[in-house]
Amino acid sequence: MFFLLPLPATGRVAVWRLGVKRFFSQSRAAADMTKGLVLGVYNKGKEEDVPQFTSAGEKFDKLVSGKLRELLTISGPPLKAGKTRTFHGLHQDFPSVVLVGLGNKGAGIDDQENWHEGKENIRAAVAAGCRQVQELELSSVEVDPCGDAQAAAEGAVLGLFEYDDLKHKKKTVVLAKLHGSGDQEAWQKGILFASGQNLARHLMETPANEMTPTIFAQIIEENLKTASSKTQVHIRPKCWIEEQEMGSFLSVAKGSEEPPVFLEIHYKGSPDASEPPLVFVGKGITFDSGGISIKASANMDLMRADMGGAATICSAIVSAAKLNLPINVIGLAPLCENMPSGKANKPGDVVRAKNGKTIQVDNTDAEGRLILADALCYAHTFNPEVIINAATLTGAMDIALGSGATGVFTNSSWLWTRLFEASVETGDRVWRMPLFEHYTKQVVDCQLADVNNIGKYRSAGACTAAAFLKEFVTHPKWAHLDIAGVMTNKDEVPYLRKGMTGRPTRTLIEFLLRFSQDKARA
Ligand code: BES
Ligand code: ZN
Ligand code: ZN
Repeated sequence: MFFLLPLPATGRVAVWRLGVKRFFSQSRAAADMTKGLVLGVYNKGKEEDVPQFTSAGEKFDKLVSGKLRELLTISGPPLKAGKTRTFHGLHQDFPSVVLVGLGNKGAGIDDQENWHEGKENIRAAVAAGCRQVQELELSSVEVDPCGDAQAAAEGAVLGLFEYDDLKHKKKTVVLAKLHGSGDQEAWQKGILFASGQNLARHLMETPANEMTPTIFAQIIEENLKTASSKTQVHIRPKCWIEEQEMGSFLSVAKGSEEPPVFLEIHYKGSPDASEPPLVFVGKGITFDSGGISIKASANMDLMRADMGGAATICSAIVSAAKLNLPINVIGLAPLCENMPSGKANKPGDVVRAKNGKTIQVDNTDAEGRLILADALCYAHTFNPEVIINAATLTGAMDIALGSGATGVFTNSSWLWTRLFEASVETGDRVWRMPLFEHYTKQVVDCQLADVNNIGKYRSAGACTAAAFLKEFVTHPKWAHLDIAGVMTNKDEVPYLRKGMTGRPTRTLIEFLLRFSQDKARA
């Protein structure tokens, strides 16, 4: 009979840094009392009467003479997928061992769910296990690769993320390492993908007074410059935006005291500098009050994340630079606030976009499409291979798909297939939406201008918004990603905590990675 030992109290020292009190764990004994171990367990197969450990679990169980299996069996029912059970005092190197349920062994691509069930199970299980370790205030954790070190690393890094920069009481910083001599390369890749998404989460979660257009641009500049030397950053000020005749973008920006920025980033990874780039465009509204068509006050704070498009596309480019992908990518982010003021757009105003088209602004809360219209026109000037834009564009997208998938509106089935395949791998899914002429008719039927910034009817708001953007696109390979529904997480994605998600950053990185690999094969 074995006993669950009481948890040893951690010795902690307090250190003040930047005016914020931080605790650092301190080891007291020869053994590292600050280290946790996360190990996976599969569901019992039909022929088995004992739970099936992963190979790392099996090894550890042998090391402790079968005690792990015994404890697991006597401590409760079999571990379900995503559930955890923690044991203490089994081995001096690992004072706390967290077992996590991985679901069925051999789970692969589920073509109803459009994702890889095995990878999703690993992400969810490892995230839950690492969070247990964090709750125990341990400063490091070794993680079982569970057969897919990339998915395990993603689960660890995404699961541990918490935005607490502005709080005095912070969650323990847990350093996750790969357990055993597994696939370090895949583990590092997972860390990189998840860190990319966490950068986007950080940008989105930060309050609007701390994440102005200028600060956003500076953070991206810093991250991109550190990622690679093959980069350029242009933080374009208002006078540049005026020279570019981006009247639609300026009309939104002028409602706020906060100066707008047009952020333009270049990653030149291809050995051929003249190779046509992929151009990513992201909506960068650092706060969307709605303007004169002001929003209801309930949950208006969420509109600090209305720069999620800019955050995800810029983070994906930073990640592509870290991966040193042999491609050229440009990121464009019109950044400003949408505020009501004496200078703000008024319903019925007509503004002129960069391509000369006039737009009647019947609703000042449909501002995303106004700033994207100019950015999309500008995107065409780079002779791009493809144009992809991401935007928290419409509440209607959230009504349509919720947080199940990003809505993709594209004029290219080739591009659709590539985005779709990338999303099956990452589990951050996409779903194709229509760009029918049917919706275009509802935005070009306009009393005072060439196009109206809202549709004639209430229905299909995500589709009429996409049809509006299409009026500013002539490129044959364009995709618009409406990410409004995937902007936040309550509890739907188990490996993300409640809050801003940074979705679909990993899908964009995977898309870029596959694009570079396809190009190398061609
Ligand atoms: N940023 C919002 C869309 C949004 C809503 C994103 C909820 C995330 C969560 C956008 O600028 C907006 O307000 N759109 C309006 C358009 C309408 C006035 C045609 C909307 O969706 O209500
Ligand atoms: Zn709005
Ligand atoms: Zn908005």
